[in-house]
Amino acid sequence: MSDASPPLVRPATAGDAPRLAQLSGQLGYPVAADTIAGRLTRLLGRAGDVVLVAETDGEVVGWVHGSEQDLLESATRCELLGLVVDARHRTRGVGRRLVAAVESWAAGRGLELVSVRSNVSRTESHPFYERLGYSRVKTQHAYRKRLVLRP
Ligand SMILES: CC(C)(COP(=O)(O)OP(=O)(O)OC[C@H]1O[C@@H](n2cnc3c(N)ncnc32)[C@H](O)[C@@H]1OP(=O)(O)O)[C@@H](O)C(=O)NCCC(=O)NCCS
Repeated sequence: MSDASPPLVRPATAGDAPRLAQLSGQLGYPVAADTIAGRLTRLLGRAGDVVLVAETDGEVVGWVHGSEQDLLESATRCELLGLVVDARHRTRGVGRRLVAAVESWAAGRGLELVSVRSNVSRTESHPFYERLGYSRVKTQHAYRKRLVLRP
């Protein structure tokens, strides 16, 4: 068991970009710090998105991105679009605090549902979400098509 302080959850700021980029690598999405910085700036300017970080002893040890999703066929809901906790800080309640903070944000916006899609290969995430009260509702195939953009 760690004797680190309980994590503080706070909104991400532009200065967090390099650390968010490092942690994205642990999520399996290696991204350059300046690329993350540009994306973060756009997200921070949108009321319907929230990016939070967890900080322990002055170090950012995790981040989460929640987003209000307007759909035609279902009520507006909050989607967890990204979540990662530093491998050295897992199973200490950091992920739980980050998700709880997004849930509070969503409830404050009147959203009644939080959803998340997690790759079957992310074996630790499935018991995690179930412990947090999430129910598995379906299994999907994911499709992508790369577009050729004209200059
Ligand atoms: C999934 C992840 C965010 C969990 O973060 P975490 O800080 O380790 O989770 P917590 O310590 O807050 O755990 C919350 C609960 O989930 C359980 N849990 C967490 N990881 C678990 C695991 N690997 N196996 C079983 N249960 C687990 C904990 O026991 C805890 O339950 P409890 O509070 O009832 O005792 C983290 O493992 C991670 O970043 N994984 C890689 C990226 C990833 O999969 N992200 C999700 C993408 S959708």
